[in-house]
Amino acid sequence: MGKVIAVANQKGGVGKTTTAVNLAASLAASEHPTLLLDTDPQANGTSSLGIESRTAPSSVYDVLTGSVAVEDATLHTEMPFLDVVPSHINLVGAEIEMIDLFERERVLKKALQRARRTYDFIVIDCPPSLGLLTLNALTAADSVLIPVQTEYFALEGLGQLLNTIKIVRQHLNPDLEIEGVLLTMFDGRLRLSNQVAAEVRRYFGDRVFEAVVQRNVRVSEAPSFGKPVLLYDAVSSGSKNYMALAGEVIRNNQRYLEDEAAGEASDGAPLDAPPVVAEPAPPRPAPSGAARPGPDAGGVEPQPPPNPSPSAPPPPASPPTVSAPPPSAAPPSSPSAAGRGDGFGEPSRVVLASRATPGRPGQ
Ligand SMILES: Nc1ncnc2c1ncn2[C@@H]1O[C@H](COP(=O)(O)OP(=O)(O)O)[C@@H](O)[C@H]1O
Ligand SMILES: [Mg+2]
Repeated sequence: MGKVIAVANQKGGVGKTTTAVNLAASLAASEHPTLLLDTDPQANGTSSLGIESRTAPSSVYDVLTGSVAVEDATLHTEMPFLDVVPSHINLVGAEIEMIDLFERERVLKKALQRARRTYDFIVIDCPPSLGLLTLNALTAADSVLIPVQTEYFALEGLGQLLNTIKIVRQHLNPDLEIEGVLLTMFDGRLRLSNQVAAEVRRYFGDRVFEAVVQRNVRVSEAPSFGKPVLLYDAVSSGSKNYMALAGEVIRNNQRYLEDEAAGEASDGAPLDAPPVVAEPAPPRPAPSGAARPGPDAGGVEPQPPPNPSPSAPPPPASPPTVSAPPPSAAPPSSPSAAGRGDGFGEPSRVVLASRATPGRPGQ
């Protein structure tokens, strides 16, 4: 079974799409069959691979609404080992349309069952929110890769993300792991970049990838040519950084890949079993919000955020736009909150040291 990695962070502009596309391309370049699943209605990941989402025959939207199987929505790219399920602007309305679906948070997980047999890696590009699309991705995923931009506000909102991961583990996907935290848009000449990188490493320790993605103009140019940076400029620092990341992901999942190879050799399960598509459910009362993690997640009490560290850096001039609707709970406040001993339960003062505007509502 292939490994499903969701690239998630509810902040926009931190490098999710860039990472999802270029990680997927670099895994494919390493001859691992890889599928990129674009769940962001903005479809930047789709267009970054030279595919026009509006003219694609079907998309993640059709998969989530149950009319098309993943296999039938999959397109090949110019890289032999890389396929993509494109996004579509219709995904904007998918969260509302899925409200009445049976187990609406698990639709993607079910839909991907068959594709997991085809690919070594399935990389999901998540939208900049913690809504139902991201919940579907986190529920379908084996792990989550968290890009963190080495900028002011880098760690702002990470508590929300970690808490959402905790809720997903409790109610939807107990096996969800942290694949790693990736420092993006790093500029070693800037003291700020180095400070943020050090702070992220202090908090997340060895969960931070050794590979760091430097700020590189080739990375930002490549999407307008419809190519991953590897095909646009193979010797750029961006290509090297993302190849290094892919190498780390492959190394970290070596046992997994070996198990998969062994499983394939002995796996008698038919590959031509009927694909799983979402089924509409009988009507049920509408939840209080489509972006909530599900009815049984209600037991998690929202917690007030801890106080910011006295050593927090001075707030920058203007806060970033956080487009995410806040999830139902704020960062956990007890050390045991994570419950998995992975050190992510308490987004401590260190995390909040990069908060710019302490006490903003919803943070
Ligand atoms: N390593 C990098 N060097 C230069 N620009 C980058 C890099 N990574 C991302 N960008 C640019 O930053 C912007 C936001 O990146 P994107 O991947 O779209 O973020 P997200 O998906 O989190 O919103 C894009 O314009 C992208 O081209
Ligand atoms: Mg994006």
